[in-house]
Amino acid sequence: MLIPNERAAPAPVGPKILGELWFGASHNLPRFLTAVPHRGPVRRDAAWEHDREQGDDAMNRDRRDNGRVICNLTISADGYSAGLNQTEERPFGDDGGDGWADKLHAWYSESSEENREEIDQILAAKAFIMGRNMFGPVRGEWDRPWIGWWGDNPPYHAPVFVLTHHAREPQPMEGGTTFHFVTDGIESALTRAREAAGDGDVAIMGGATTINQYLAAGLIDELRLHIVPLTLGAGTRLFEGVPPLKLEQVKSHSASLVTHVTYRVLS
Ligand SMILES: NC(=O)c1ccc[n+]([C@@H]2O[C@H](COP(=O)([O-])OP(=O)(O)OC[C@H]3O[C@@H](n4cnc5c(N)ncnc54)[C@H](OP(=O)(O)O)[C@@H]3O)[C@@H](O)[C@H]2O)c1
Repeated sequence: MLIPNERAAPAPVGPKILGELWFGASHNLPRFLTAVPHRGPVRRDAAWEHDREQGDDAMNRDRRDNGRVICNLTISADGYSAGLNQTEERPFGDDGGDGWADKLHAWYSESSEENREEIDQILAAKAFIMGRNMFGPVRGEWDRPWIGWWGDNPPYHAPVFVLTHHAREPQPMEGGTTFHFVTDGIESALTRAREAAGDGDVAIMGGATTINQYLAAGLIDELRLHIVPLTLGAGTRLFEGVPPLKLEQVKSHSASLVTHVTYRVLS
């Protein structure tokens, strides 16, 4: 069933909200997520310096500086990005905490200043892709209105392409975000996202089921992992079903609640 393009309030989310970026009600979002994000990333990290020193030609460097496909994901030390048993009441399922990623995402809800650089880059892309389970708790047919977890003004301020097997009309939101529902696969979603992003980056937001497909297809340029010190033992796991990859570590930063590692995906 297609749902009409109506606005409906998302399920009420209590004061304990949220893993602000991956789940967030706009009224509760910190300013960095409600402000229009910085556009046009400028990469001046170790990899860029390495390329420059190696005389990497301008075209290659330019390709990687513009229009990259990047991916941020918070994972437990055993590789899970969400637990089993996702529900509307516990969107992250059995996540070792309250079901709202209070432990997984403590690194930016409790120590955002320490992780400012990593947080700021998350929304710098110009188009976004996510799986339907990240978009919301509705499974199967769209049997009720759902506009995402982020309230009327989501923090993306750009097109967001939601992978699903269930067709639905686009959902425009305040602040420049429009959710487009893509039923013809990951490559189609990426083509549309690239067109929308122009020379900006496309960010694959998650969850792991979606990211794993892009990794397996060799379509991710840069993987930015935020590894937190807990194990879940079960759930949705990064790299599940993904063939062996060659990764080049281009950046790392150890903070009190998380270790950030950025990999360039070579093949
Ligand atoms: N730790 C983090 O940083 C992080 C980040 C993002 C999300 N999350 C969490 O991860 C969980 C969601 O992740 P997930 O891995 O379970 O699911 P997901 O990747 O968000 O969504 C999977 C669903 O998307 C649709 N889909 C995916 N690929 C498709 C394709 N090629 N064609 C058509 N439809 C496709 C299917 O839905 P239908 O068949 O129902 O249409 C599929 O069941 C949530 O708990 C979320 O909170 C965590």
